[in-house]
Amino acid sequence: DHGIMSSLSDGDMSRPSRKGSMYPTEKVSAAIKCIIGPRKSSEIRMERSIGFLGCLSFIMGTIIGSGIFISPGGILQNTNNIWAAMIVWAMAGMISLAGGLVLIELSTVIPVSGGEYTYILAAFGGIPAFLTVWSYLMLIRPSSMGVLVLTTAVNIIEPIAKEIGVDPGDISIKLATKLLTIFLLCVIAFMNCVSVRLATYFQVICTAGKLGGLVVIIISGIYNLSTGHDKNLRVGFENATTNVGKLANALYVGLWAYDGWDQLNLVTEEIVNPYRNLPWAICVGMPFITIIYMLTNIAFLTRVDIPEFSHASVALLYGDRSLGVMSFLMPLAVILSCLGAANGTLFSAARMTLVAARNGHLPDVVSFVDVNQGTPTPAIIIMVSITTAMVLMLDIEGLIDFLSYIVWIAYGGTAITHIVFRCRRPAAPRPFKTPIAVSLILVLAAIFLTIATVVLDPRLEYLYAVAFTTSGLLLYFPFVYFELRIPGMESATKFLQLTLRVTPPAIDKS
Ligand code: ARG
Repeated sequence: DHGIMSSLSDGDMSRPSRKGSMYPTEKVSAAIKCIIGPRKSSEIRMERSIGFLGCLSFIMGTIIGSGIFISPGGILQNTNNIWAAMIVWAMAGMISLAGGLVLIELSTVIPVSGGEYTYILAAFGGIPAFLTVWSYLMLIRPSSMGVLVLTTAVNIIEPIAKEIGVDPGDISIKLATKLLTIFLLCVIAFMNCVSVRLATYFQVICTAGKLGGLVVIIISGIYNLSTGHDKNLRVGFENATTNVGKLANALYVGLWAYDGWDQLNLVTEEIVNPYRNLPWAICVGMPFITIIYMLTNIAFLTRVDIPEFSHASVALLYGDRSLGVMSFLMPLAVILSCLGAANGTLFSAARMTLVAARNGHLPDVVSFVDVNQGTPTPAIIIMVSITTAMVLMLDIEGLIDFLSYIVWIAYGGTAITHIVFRCRRPAAPRPFKTPIAVSLILVLAAIFLTIATVVLDPRLEYLYAVAFTTSGLLLYFPFVYFELRIPGMESATKFLQLTLRVTPPAIDKS
């Protein structure tokens, strides 16, 4: 039994401890004294600083990222008909809303940061929880973040390449793109380390910018429709695919565009009044996004013909044709959109990492925060380093296809925890009760998506992904289960504490 359960049952949100060892250990506290000075260590904490606007920006600004600007082609290619594509967009929106609704109830039953990891730990114990954070930390979040920042960089470099007359396929351009990606990753990481407020402001600004861009697309689309550009829409369901594998692929592409509905659950402890702000942000944000996505697709269809949708960025093509002198707004919106989503992803991923470290699933120092700002510097540095390594070594866009189904195993598991807690913790506060049917929708979607990928399109890569995920056990057993101590770990922790100026945060009991 991991301490989280016992600590939560009496309403205490303090750090669940591993057998006996509660940090700060005596050895580390000497180091703490010299970096925090005369303050009490109980004064160093992660504040509850994300209000409703922040919540809305974190959820909408992370969900709206690259997908709506880039995925329409993928869905259309797989479905082969615009209305079938629309249905996929709507279904993906509904499945994601179901996810959001399940997470609302879970956030009230266990008001602790860490999202899927936290719920899986409380419901199923250490091993599944460890594998969740392991795959999120090593594969899922870095690849998401990598794709988002890489897309940003491509959208900055390609126009410049065109301007100076260099072929975008040129090796120098590829190199420049990778370097810019790493630079942007460092900028986001820096903002996240400097202050929670700075990262939140950045999130709010990017969200406003991308919503502005989408509103411009939608309004111009309505104008186009009123001036007779509706030939692409005047079709029936002809040629729509009935191939289940293709539908599953289309659904995956759509679900990527809606991914990020778990954002707020990853940061619950930093939300002001989470019992109110979290549910409202999800309830307002998710349907709003679904509607915006549908309208944006219709707008694209007024000026972009179906064969052209495979073009990497439909949005830019649309901008060139429909926005006239304002067409420069489109690349700007795409850049803000992807960068904002990457910021939100890093912000929340760092919190899951921190919570896992707090539970003894990762080295202690990863759960520490900056003594002055309360930002989780070590967790941020780790996330960005893994992402950088991925960007340098791998073709991440290819990787994402093989990873989405691992995420869906985690989402399915999370949906099951909803049912588990209903039985095991019937008395927990549930100001917002989500029907069990909703989590069943999520479970069914998860089963369909994982089985469809493996059965209909068996590929070795899926096996690699599973093998990598389970390889986490090679670390779990010695270091977590048997609590093997690595020689020098205490001194390394102390050294990192002093150089990064980080310390264990006191935990908010409100
Ligand atoms: N939905 C986003 C997009 O369309 C991806 C978000 C990935 N991040 C995350 N935290 N799930 O690009």
